[in-house]
Amino acid sequence: MKIALVGGTGDIGTGFAVRWGQKHEIIIGSRNVDKARESAAAVLQLLGAAADVRGTDNAGAVATADVVVLCVPYEHLAFVTADLKDSYKSQLVISPVVPMIYNGKFFLYNPPAEGSAALQTRRLLPKGVRLVSAFHTICAAALQDIERMMKGDAFICGDEAEAIDIVMELAGEIKSLRPLKAGPLAASSLVESLTPFLLNVARKNKIKDAGIAVVSERKLSEQMAKIIKN
Ligand SMILES: NC(=O)c1ccc[n+]([C@@H]2O[C@H](COP(=O)([O-])OP(=O)(O)OC[C@H]3O[C@@H](n4cnc5c(N)ncnc54)[C@H](OP(=O)(O)O)[C@@H]3O)[C@@H](O)[C@H]2O)c1
Repeated sequence: MKIALVGGTGDIGTGFAVRWGQKHEIIIGSRNVDKARESAAAVLQLLGAAADVRGTDNAGAVATADVVVLCVPYEHLAFVTADLKDSYKSQLVISPVVPMIYNGKFFLYNPPAEGSAALQTRRLLPKGVRLVSAFHTICAAALQDIERMMKGDAFICGDEAEAIDIVMELAGEIKSLRPLKAGPLAASSLVESLTPFLLNVARKNKIKDAGIAVVSERKLSEQMAKIIKN
């Protein structure tokens, strides 16, 4: 699969390039081609020359991709998405974008009028382009550490079953990360808002590289009962 990372020179983009670069063709996008090439070279140094990772401008990355991940901060999302409109055909776009602010004391979810970054992006993208919202609670530092087993879940929102399945599969390729369906795109605000919540909990409790996992209390108690029995 050809995966374009718009703004892929940053933290989460580098994480995706590192995790997917061994199996897929990765095109790191940037406003600056030299910066994109430098990022690609750094990822190749980590993965080895056999990996298929290259850098180019954002428009060139989107135009050749099957899957596009929007790796830009929310403040630039609307401009970047509108600016790249002509580069889209029928790609699958993934948005991990979280609109949030820091009020000096804690992080707050700060969605646009549409209700979430995903719904705003849906409005800005051309009609034939599919959109799935995912990976908001995944820590970029953990993603970049290729040996790290991920303990959190990846929550995925979308309206098209086939598109959701593709993202579920991509998420499942990341070491021990569990993809979980979280509802339609209209439910994306619920998932996006978990990120400021998670950052507040992490700061208050000094938890590094925090993530969120859903547990089955029943499964845990059954496992405990089995251990005690044996
Ligand atoms: N970091 C995380 O742990 C994490 C986790 C989950 C979700 N996310 C989401 O992922 C997205 C990216 O986060 P990040 O931490 O990777 O961001 P980042 O490192 O701060 O920035 C990513 C890239 O955005 C591009 N960019 C910066 N200013 C821009 C502008 N004015 N116009 C166009 N592009 C610009 C830059 O690429 P160029 O300079 O190369 O163009 C930069 O490398 C955010 O929406 C965030 O909410 C992040």
